[in-house]
Amino acid sequence: MTSPRSNWNYPTAIRFGAGRIAELPDACRDAGMTRPLLVTDPFLATQAMTGRAIAILNEAGLPAGLFADIKPNPVETNVYRGLEALRFGGHDGVVAFGGGSALDAGKVVAFMAGQTRPMWDFEDIGDWYTRADPKGIAPIVAVPTTAGTGSEVGRAGVITQEATHTKKVIFHPLMIPKVTICDPELTVGMPPHITAGTGLDALAHCLEAYCAPSYHPMAEGIAVEGMRLVKEYLPRAYREGADIEARAQMMSAAAMGATAFQKGLGAIHALSHPVGALYDTHHGLTNAVFMPYVLIYNRSAIETKIERLAAYLGLAGRFDAFLEWVLGLRRDLGVPHTLEGLKIGPERFDEMSAMAPEDPTAGGNPVPITQDTARHLYEEALAGRI
Ligand SMILES: NC(=O)c1ccc[n+]([C@@H]2O[C@H](COP(=O)([O-])OP(=O)(O)OC[C@H]3O[C@@H](n4cnc5c(N)ncnc54)[C@H](O)[C@@H]3O)[C@@H](O)[C@H]2O)c1
Ligand SMILES: [Fe+2]
Repeated sequence: MTSPRSNWNYPTAIRFGAGRIAELPDACRDAGMTRPLLVTDPFLATQAMTGRAIAILNEAGLPAGLFADIKPNPVETNVYRGLEALRFGGHDGVVAFGGGSALDAGKVVAFMAGQTRPMWDFEDIGDWYTRADPKGIAPIVAVPTTAGTGSEVGRAGVITQEATHTKKVIFHPLMIPKVTICDPELTVGMPPHITAGTGLDALAHCLEAYCAPSYHPMAEGIAVEGMRLVKEYLPRAYREGADIEARAQMMSAAAMGATAFQKGLGAIHALSHPVGALYDTHHGLTNAVFMPYVLIYNRSAIETKIERLAAYLGLAGRFDAFLEWVLGLRRDLGVPHTLEGLKIGPERFDEMSAMAPEDPTAGGNPVPITQDTARHLYEEALAGRI
């Protein structure tokens, strides 16, 4: 490599720390909102922390609406209903509050606030984002309640297209939250299986970003430290949900993963997205199932990098030590070793193998993915062959 060229972005303002949800009204004012719509999912809408967030907005003179019709793996109907709530309620911004599903849906609702074209015109393809009117994007404050997707620092929302059962990425550089509040206290109520699934999504982001072949040394640095945090703190957060230090470190790891993955993702996500879209499985958990099979598939292209990573993580050994660590972590966190554990058989492998290489994340995989190799990987993951 002689003189590399690349585009780098790290612009999110993050208020990080336990208890900082109290600053939500301040954050909304900073973002330019006077009448926010809080977008969350139906379960979180019933939780005390959500009621409290709305109460502190109202008490601070920012009358807040609530929209909670968001399913896990959100679909376009969720976005369009949210858009109606935004417009009819006269809201001038969105507080996206929840896991990746609510964050993504809330961000896309805010993005669509003043657009005249349909949402699918803004899929993350080429320069399609330039079709959007930047002045039509309502401000966003993001408040994650899981530690995994990192959507709170991202410029995209993942929405499932119901007609094709495909997860699509809606992207605009200004879809990024104006302010993010990372308050680890909001994540202590996550049950262990969601802690595991979301935490392993953060790991998948760091790992795939680190391995993606494009030039982005800053992203690589962030990704390796993100993986160290996962190694040290995810088992603690899983065992003891109230361990606030572990929760905080995982919140960092999640934001770091998504900051790093502007460098690229890869086959873990490309294989996982069709499964999530067709079977509605949890995104992070699905990634975790595929992780070791993809590592082996990519081995020839990433062996040296993984050796460096293994040394940084303090593992005794090289590529095989890293693979063993991944397998052990999955086991300890109750992640199934095969697709069968997600209740998935080979019935739709044809469809999935055609979808995976088309997924926007496929291009970041260090070894090209074709329909044949995607099928091979689905078969390995079903048989549990390591
Ligand atoms: N925008 C991005 O860059 C990006 C990156 C990765 C994934 N995603 C998307 O994010 C979605 C997955 O997000 P997720 O993994 O955060 O899961 P999620 O938002 O679907 O939430 C999973 C479950 O956890 C519950 N939950 C959330 N916070 C909780 C808390 N504090 N206590 C108890 N329960 C809680 C939710 O109610 C839900 O039932 C997928 O649609 C995926 O495609 C987006
Ligand atoms: Fe992900």
